[in-house]
Amino acid sequence: MEEAGDPPAASAMSPVLQATTASIRDAEPGEVGTLEALVAEIFGAGDRPRGWFERKLAREVVAPALSKIAVDPRGAKVGFLLTSAPASLSGVARLVSLGVLPTWRGRGIGRALIEAAATSATAAGLRSMTALAEADRRGFYADTGFAPEAVLRTLLAPSRSPERPARRGGGPGPDAPSGSRAAAPKSAAAVTEPTDEVMMIRSLPPSGWARPGTEAVGGWLAEAWEGTAAALRQTYALGGEDPRAWAHVSREGQAQLIHRLLLRSPSAPRAPHEVATAVFEIAQALAQKLAPGGPLLFYGLPAVSPITDLLERAGWSCIQESTRMVRRLRSPASPAVDRSRLAAP
Ligand SMILES: CC(C)(COP(=O)(O)OP(=O)(O)OC[C@H]1O[C@@H](n2cnc3c(N)ncnc32)[C@H](O)[C@@H]1OP(=O)(O)O)[C@@H](O)C(=O)NCCC(=O)NCCS
Repeated sequence: MEEAGDPPAASAMSPVLQATTASIRDAEPGEVGTLEALVAEIFGAGDRPRGWFERKLAREVVAPALSKIAVDPRGAKVGFLLTSAPASLSGVARLVSLGVLPTWRGRGIGRALIEAAATSATAAGLRSMTALAEADRRGFYADTGFAPEAVLRTLLAPSRSPERPARRGGGPGPDAPSGSRAAAPKSAAAVTEPTDEVMMIRSLPPSGWARPGTEAVGGWLAEAWEGTAAALRQTYALGGEDPRAWAHVSREGQAQLIHRLLLRSPSAPRAPHEVATAVFEIAQALAQKLAPGGPLLFYGLPAVSPITDLLERAGWSCIQESTRMVRRLRSPASPAVDRSRLAAP
C-alpha cells in the first residue's frame, strides 16, 4: 500500500510524463476545491473575500475531468491547470487558471499541464482551447501552441460625483491610452459633448444572458452571469418604455462590472460609428447612474474599436488588457515535452 506523500501510481499519471521527476495527473473529483492554498502561493493571497475560490470554480464551471495537477516525486502539488467546457461556448475548452510554483518554473511543467489538458479535451470531443493572456504571458502561450485571436480591454469609468451628471466628456489627454485613433468616428467630438436628454434607466431583476432581437457588446461568460447570486447582479433597461439596450451588471468586490451590453438590433444596418455612438451614450448613462455604487468596469471590449476609442477619449481608462489565445485541437501539438528539464529544483 502506498504511504501518504508517495508519488501517485504511474497509471494515474499522464503517459507523457511517466518516469519524470515532476508528474502530471488528472485532478480527482472534489480535488479542485482544495487547490486554494496552492493558488494563493502562486498568485499571492490578495485581498479576497472568504469563499472566493469556491465561487470562481462554480461561476467558471471548472470541469475536474479536464483539469490537471503537477506533483513532485513525493506527491506534493507544484502546479495546476483548471479548465472548463462551458455549454455556452460550444466545442471550446476554456483555460480558467494555470500556475506553477516559482521554484519549479522553467522545467516544462506549464507546457506539460497544457499538453495533458489538450489531450483530455480532444478525447472529450472539444475542438479548441482558449486562454486569456496578459502581455507578459503571450510568449508562453505562443510557445505552447496558441495563436492570438483578439485583444480585449477592461475599461474603468471615470470617477464622478453621483449628484451631478458629468456633462462634458473629456477629450484625449496627453497620456490617454492609445486606441485606434484612425478608427474613431468622425463625429467623436460631437458625441462627447453634453446631451440635454437624460437617458431613462430602469432596474430589472437579473435577466437571461441572451435576448432575442439584440446584439451583444463586450461580455464575459454566460455561466458566470447565471451563476452569480441574484443579490449581486442586476439587469438595467436603458432608454425608457421601449429600451434601446439592456445591461447585465454584477458586483465584483468593491466594483461593479458590465458583464454584457445588449443593443436592440436596428431595423436597418448601422455603421460602426453609429453603434459606437449608441454604446458610448449608454455606457456614460450607466456610469452616471451607478456612480454611487463604486467603480464601474466594462469588460471585454476590443482594444481596437471605435467604441473603446470613444470611451477612452471620454476618460474611461484601460485597467487590463488581455489577448484571447486559441489553440486548435486535433492539430499538431506544441513541441514535445522535454523530460530532462523536469528535475526537482
Ligand atoms: C506561466 C507559467 C505557468 C509557465 O510555467 P512553466 O512551467 O515555467 O513553463 P514551461 O517551463 O513549461 O515553459 C514552456 C515554454 O514557455 C516559455 N515561457 C515560459 N514562461 C514564459 C514567459 N513568461 N514568457 C515567454 N515565454 C515563456 C518557456 O521558455 C518554454 O519554452 P521552451 O520549452 O521552448 O524553453 C508559470 O510561469 C507561472 O505559474 N507563472 C505565474 C502564474 C501565471 O502567470 N499563470 C498564467 C496566467 S495567464
